[in-house]
Amino acid sequence: MERENLECLVALGQERDWARAAERCGVTEERLNQVVHAAEEEYGHAIVVPGQTFQGFTPEGERVLAWANDFCAAFEQLAQCFATSRRRTLVAPLLERRSVSPKRLCGPGPSAHDLALIAQAGLHAPDHGGLHPWRLLEFAGGQRAQLADCFEAEKRRRDPLAPAADLQRAREHALRPPVLLAFIVSPKARTQVPLREQWLSAGAALGNMLNAAHQLGFGAIVLSGERCFDPQLSAELGLQPAESLAGFISLGSVVQAPPARKYASPEDVLSHWQPHGTPAADVPRSPPEADLEIDPIHDDKHNRHH
Ligand SMILES: Cc1cc2nc3c(=O)[nH]c(=O)nc-3n(C[C@H](O)[C@H](O)[C@H](O)COP(=O)(O)O)c2cc1C
Repeated sequence: MERENLECLVALGQERDWARAAERCGVTEERLNQVVHAAEEEYGHAIVVPGQTFQGFTPEGERVLAWANDFCAAFEQLAQCFATSRRRTLVAPLLERRSVSPKRLCGPGPSAHDLALIAQAGLHAPDHGGLHPWRLLEFAGGQRAQLADCFEAEKRRRDPLAPAADLQRAREHALRPPVLLAFIVSPKARTQVPLREQWLSAGAALGNMLNAAHQLGFGAIVLSGERCFDPQLSAELGLQPAESLAGFISLGSVVQAPPARKYASPEDVLSHWQPHGTPAADVPRSPPEADLEIDPIHDDKHNRHH
């Protein structure tokens, strides 16, 4: 028996009326009758109680109906699985991107043309007012030693007794990445676009650029660390007072893929509004940052690359 015919039976079981079931299946009543009769022939038993109008299913017919219901439900589930899998491939590049630590990167990094494409991807991020409230600063190979001096000096300011190994590590953050960019959030003075939206736009641009780098076949990672909060280093890099050094983007070819990481599931972040039961007054509008509970495992302080 064909699946379409089983679906006709399921419709008849639900509608309990020839005309409505036929309409639901998009066939004539006569065709629906033929389908049932053909099934009865194949099965060797009456499926529906004979009569001018629909009189119900015979006991054997109820068994067939139960199988048809199960089959159609399983088929529907399978079709859903296929559709989800097909749709998943459409977002696969976004699901596959990983940050790749500078230790796992080598040359060549993205070319000037690639960097322009990456920046273009950033510019295509959602951006209220088209302000592109961010900019990139590239450190050419010949400037890295000078940048390493700046990183070392910042480390010394922060920790005058820093051991030589820590100072060397600070220098390596400037020297190791095949391509190194500073990501600077550069808010524009616009009354109609609040600062927080400009930061969100900058973050969206950063995400787009990391995805673009991944799509171009490069590994990339954004690292901030304490140095991004050092006013002197920011001044040495030419930041304006209103700008923030959000992080450094390292880019290169991937030597070794990063280890697998766990992700939260969509249900952790996607819920439905419940208009009843939650008084509007109880919904915090914008919780002050101090209210956020720090998770020691994921707290940036513990994970920062100094
Ligand atoms: C602005 C910014 C700064 C970051 N700074 C650091 C950092 O200093 N140290 C660190 O371990 N991860 C830092 N991260 C997180 C990593 O870049 C990366 O996203 C994280 O390790 C998760 O890896 P994944 O991108 O492969 O999921 C930062 C991320 C962003 C967006």
